Amino acid sequence: MPSTRAGAPGANPFDQARVAARELRRMTGAARHDVLVVLGTGLFPVAAQLGATGPPIDLTSLPWFSRFTGPGHRPEAWSVPLGEARVLVVAGRLHLYEGATPSEVVHGVRTAIAAGVRTVILTCSAGGLNPAFSTGEVVAISDHLNLTGTSPLLGEAVDAVGGGRHIEMTDAWSPRLRMLTHAVAPVREGVYAQVLGPELETPAEIKMLATLGADLVGMSTVPEAIAARHLGAEVLGLAVVTNAAAGMGGSPVALDEIVDTAGRAVEEVTALTRGVIEQLHTNVTAEGDSLRG
Ligand code: HPA
Repeated sequence: MPSTRAGAPGANPFDQARVAARELRRMTGAARHDVLVVLGTGLFPVAAQLGATGPPIDLTSLPWFSRFTGPGHRPEAWSVPLGEARVLVVAGRLHLYEGATPSEVVHGVRTAIAAGVRTVILTCSAGGLNPAFSTGEVVAISDHLNLTGTSPLLGEAVDAVGGGRHIEMTDAWSPRLRMLTHAVAPVREGVYAQVLGPELETPAEIKMLATLGADLVGMSTVPEAIAARHLGAEVLGLAVVTNAAAGMGGSPVALDEIVDTAGRAVEEVTALTRGVIEQLHTNVTAEGDSLRG
């Protein structure tokens, strides 16, 4: 197996994703996948609830996949039939704070899209800045602030692929998929600010983010959304508010609390994810319109 990392200098990350997708097809026996579901911190049990059974695929055995080192993130995936859809469920993700490059962080999303995926459902935990949000609540991401100082669309190879470098980011978080989410259960929406991490924010940083318009803060998800939009996939983001952001809730933010609270949202995240996929992959609505994009 080639030893360079995804998107390393001289490597074309899109060619690498195509090679990895071939291997994914071989390992799963599925000619194509329709939907990618990425599970954030503490949401690992959603995989089984969506129907994942049997031993997972070890993603590190696919070309250019790196080990995940974030808490509760496992480089494991299942290919799950859900109604008419074939869903790739991944039990974690790589973060920029692990020292990974943006290309490495989005290699899984690019591989899934090369394997046929048109819908990307990104789940994550987040700190809540909006005082209307309660701990444990699931919020649909309506927009984002990319405060990482980087992007997966850096470099020359990006320009010749998908939407090119300067992709349009209005409606990056699909209004259609949010509408389908609301049809499953009414959830609130919010603007997600991605910081680099890995340290949690200071109260002063949270005040700044609130001034900038953030409702949620986290350390993931945005590079994957950018990479998916670049390749024309539709993106839904479901964030579990695991804690009041620093300085907003009285007590300091604790990692254990983040993982435990996310775990309590497993059923709701499963129901929303399943409901959206079922609506997308039922061919005909009551009015006779195809919902497939
Ligand atoms: N800050 C950053 N990331 C997070 C938080 C937070 O408060 N909670 C869960 N992920």
